[in-house]
Amino acid sequence: MKIAFDKIINHLKTQGFVFQGSEIYGGLANSWDYGPLGSELKNKLKSCWWNYFVKRNKLNVGIDTSIILNPKVWIASGHLGNFNDPLIDCKSCKSRFRADKLVEELYVDINAGNLNYDELESFIKENKISCPKCKSFDFTNIRQFDLMFKTFQGPIEDDSAKVYLRPETAQGIFVQYKNTQRALRKKLPFGIGQIGKSFRNEITPGNFIFRTREFEQMELEFFFSPNDTNNWFDYWLKKVQDFILNELNIKKDNFIVREHDKEELSHYSNKTVDIEYEFPFGRGELWGIAHRSDYDLSQHQKFSGEDLSYLDQESGIKFIPHVIEPSVGVERLLLALLCDSYCEEKLPNGESRIILKLPKKLAPYQIAVLPLQKQQSELSVKLYEKLLLNFDATYDESGNIGKRYRRQDAIGTPYCLTVDFETEKDNCVTVRDRDSMEQKRVNINDLSNYLTNN
Ligand code: GAP
Repeated sequence: MKIAFDKIINHLKTQGFVFQGSEIYGGLANSWDYGPLGSELKNKLKSCWWNYFVKRNKLNVGIDTSIILNPKVWIASGHLGNFNDPLIDCKSCKSRFRADKLVEELYVDINAGNLNYDELESFIKENKISCPKCKSFDFTNIRQFDLMFKTFQGPIEDDSAKVYLRPETAQGIFVQYKNTQRALRKKLPFGIGQIGKSFRNEITPGNFIFRTREFEQMELEFFFSPNDTNNWFDYWLKKVQDFILNELNIKKDNFIVREHDKEELSHYSNKTVDIEYEFPFGRGELWGIAHRSDYDLSQHQKFSGEDLSYLDQESGIKFIPHVIEPSVGVERLLLALLCDSYCEEKLPNGESRIILKLPKKLAPYQIAVLPLQKQQSELSVKLYEKLLLNFDATYDESGNIGKRYRRQDAIGTPYCLTVDFETEKDNCVTVRDRDSMEQKRVNINDLSNYLTNN
């Protein structure tokens, strides 16, 4: 059953996952803050990615580069010049849109990214597409809109001090490719991963945290020899799917794999495959896997004058490595994970419950300690403090036990431990499973084992 998007957004807000940015000042358009549970989940999602793609992969290492880079980086990468969207304004109500999205929202089978500006304008006129806000047909011509966020470095605000906030984390990796390869004495093939903020002055951000102007990316740049006969593209495409299915437990039916056709490719890409997720508002890009060839390193070699080639010790041949890049937005992946795990269930007693069926290791709290009655509070607090040393735990003694179970289900806590009047005598608590609602008596001394092995 498809759940209404508003319901999920409202749930995430009331449960402390995501708040509107600057809310007490009326908000700032399309900016979102992460509350205690959202930031915990986000941190766990990032470390899950980092473990899978960086730490537990024998070929890869990770780095952390600056948000503001030398502006020449963006000339070399092609972002200054190529990184723009088709902007169109409604003359009547002055609303601003991305012309390609205006078309695609009504004609889902049309890939408007393939149309040039003249073709897009004609399509809008011929098909009598009107302004989604005021229904007027009176649009401006399409103009190019630069997505780079600009600012000034230092006290003087002139052209020589102009710098940009990075629109992707990838370029920091390319710029530090040589240092990383030398310092770690890495041999090809190897990858460099990075997690960090990126900024894009999107014309039409929206759909909650799906498209924002400030977001985080998790990117891997995997370098290999052009003579390497392994199919690294397919290798990383499979890895990404394995991560989505087996680390995040996202359902197979909820995403598809789609290859870009030639006209849709970014300026740097030879081949791109997107994983697209069925969000409640429609299908959208989740994760891109791109073959960037030797484009970026060659460009940086040309513009910086530094030799970025790799010397193959065995053959004595020098070449510029090629690159496969799996790239995903943290918030977009978080949104897919939350939509996928949100469910509503009818209970045998006629009541219903909301559950976030998050993978156990990612849930903000792994355990909730609940005293059955106030008399067990002291013992429960002691147990809670002990568990906090090794687990992400929370404590709740307000309301009846049924309500407390519902509260924990709603935030995805896999286990509730209930301390009751027997606990003092038998040193056991009742452990309730979030998904099956099954209850088991477990000795406190065996809890650690039980919780880590279930
Ligand atoms: N380095 C390649 C690159 O940045 P991209 O397709 O522009 O490629 C990669 O972005 C991923 O970053 C997307 O698949 C998406 O998950 C995320 N992303 C891009 N723009 C975003 C935005 N405005 N808000 C949230 N996530 C975004």
